[in-house]
Formats: sequence, C-alpha cells, structure tokens
Amino acid sequence: MQLEILKYPDPRLKEISKPVEEFGPKLHKLLDDMAETMYAANGVGLAAPQVAETIRAFVVDVEIEEGAPRKLMELVNPRFTQGEGKIVYEEGCLSVPGVTEEVTRKGKVKVEYQDRFGVKQELIAEGLLAVALQHENDHLDGILFVERLSPIRRRLTRKKMEKAMAL
Ligand code: CO
Repeated sequence: MQLEILKYPDPRLKEISKPVEEFGPKLHKLLDDMAETMYAANGVGLAAPQVAETIRAFVVDVEIEEGAPRKLMELVNPRFTQGEGKIVYEEGCLSVPGVTEEVTRKGKVKVEYQDRFGVKQELIAEGLLAVALQHENDHLDGILFVERLSPIRRRLTRKKMEKAMAL
C-alpha cells in the first residue's frame, strides 16, 4: 500500500524519532509500504518520519540505473560508528519536491543497525549509498538536507522551497 509522503514545511518532519522495540508484523507492513512508496516516487530512500511514523527506520535502494535489479535495504535503529573522507553529491528529497542542492557528507561510513527481525547487522558504505544512508538517518533526527547547507545557500534554497511549495 502506498503511503502519503509528508512535504516541507510539515512540522512532523522536524520530530526526533523513537527507537524501534517491536519487530513484528506492524513493522514489516510499514517497511513493505515504505519500499512501495519509495519506488512509486522514484526515490532512492525513504525514512519512516516522512510517512508520519516517528520511529528510527528507513529504506534505501541506490540502484538507480534503468533496468538494474532492485537492491532494497532496510535499516532499523541505525547508528553510525565510523565516518571518514568527504563526498559532494547533488541531493534531493521526496519531502522537498523540486529542489536539489549539492551537500557535503562523509565519503565512507560504517553503520550498525538491526534488520526487520531485530537481528544486529553492520555495513560499510561509500559513494551514493553512503550519501543516502546519511540523508535518511538525518530524517530520524528531524533534519532535512537543506539544513546541511551553508547559511547563505540555505537562505537561497529556502526561497526556492517556498516558491516550489506555492505552485
Ligand atoms: Co529525504
């Protein structure tokens, strides 16, 4: 089932999400619906708070090449344990339609998380996957990618966002 994606400036996007404690059918259904919603919107990631569920979980699939097999990843209660280097990538967000900006993030990250069954997992990511993981994790702390910009670019971007919202 496709879910409604909250859009900026919905105040719920600024909430801090709570850790997931139950790894049952309710969580599984939510993760399934989030993946369906992400694919339908042609996104590479979607965090639970973007669909009004303030829990620490997100889905990503950075296989953006047309025809490539899907490579869905589900991360629950993620925690970044290492980060190094730098990457600049032009990011967008399903909650901020019509706006893309270059954001600087860690180039390589290590993340500990749980899968949908609560089993502990760990992964090391670089490139677009590293970007997506950091972008989605920010959503769990109520942070949109535009807040990662310098103050001047943030101001300009905010104007673009307001214009995009008014259309
Ligand atoms: Co986003």
